[in-house]
Amino acid sequence: MVTVTGGTCFGLMGISQDAANVGRVRAWIIERLEEKIAFPLFMATETRNDIVSCASEIVANSVVHAAHGTRGDAVKIRLILLRYRIRVEVTDPGPRNQGGALHADTPNSDAETGRGLFIVDALSADWGDRLDGDGRMTWFELER
Ligand SMILES: Nc1ncnc2c1ncn2[C@@H]1O[C@H](COP(=O)(O)OP(=O)(O)OP(=O)(O)O)[C@@H](O)[C@H]1O
Ligand SMILES: [Mg+2]
Repeated sequence: MVTVTGGTCFGLMGISQDAANVGRVRAWIIERLEEKIAFPLFMATETRNDIVSCASEIVANSVVHAAHGTRGDAVKIRLILLRYRIRVEVTDPGPRNQGGALHADTPNSDAETGRGLFIVDALSADWGDRLDGDGRMTWFELER
C-alpha cells in the first residue's frame, strides 16, 4: 500500500456519479476496514458505522451536487490510516457554478435535506474541503 504524508492509504475506489454506487462504496469501506483494522477486534462497531455514515453523506454529495464528470471514476474515495485516526478523502469534479467552501448548517426541523454535512460535523473529529484546479476534495477524520 502507498504511504501518503503522515499515513498509509489502504483503499482507493473510483465511481461514476450514479446514486446506485453509494451502496457499493459503503460495502467496500466495511470490507477494507475488516481487512486492514481486523474489525471487530480493533475497532468498535460504532466507529465503523460512523465512518460509513460520514462517507455515505460525502460521496452522495459528490454524486448529487458536484459538476458531472465524463469519466467513469469522476468521484474517487481514498481511505487513509493515520496514527490515531482514519481519514477519508473524496474528490469530485468541483462545483457546478461558482461555489465556495462547504459548511454545515443546522438543519431546519422540518427540512428534508441539508442534513448531510451536519451529520458529518457531528460524527467526525474534523472535516473540511479544498477546491483546486482539479475539483473538490472533501475529507473527514475519526479517532480509531
Ligand atoms: N461535493 C459537493 N459539491 C458541490 N456542492 C456541495 C458538495 N457537497 C455539499 N455541497 C453543497 O452543500 C449543501 C449542503 O450539503 P448537505 O449534505 O448538508 O445537504 P444536502 O445534500 O442538500 O441534503 P441531504 O444531505 O440532507 O440529502 C448542498 O446542498 C450543496 O449545495
Ligand atoms: Mg447531502
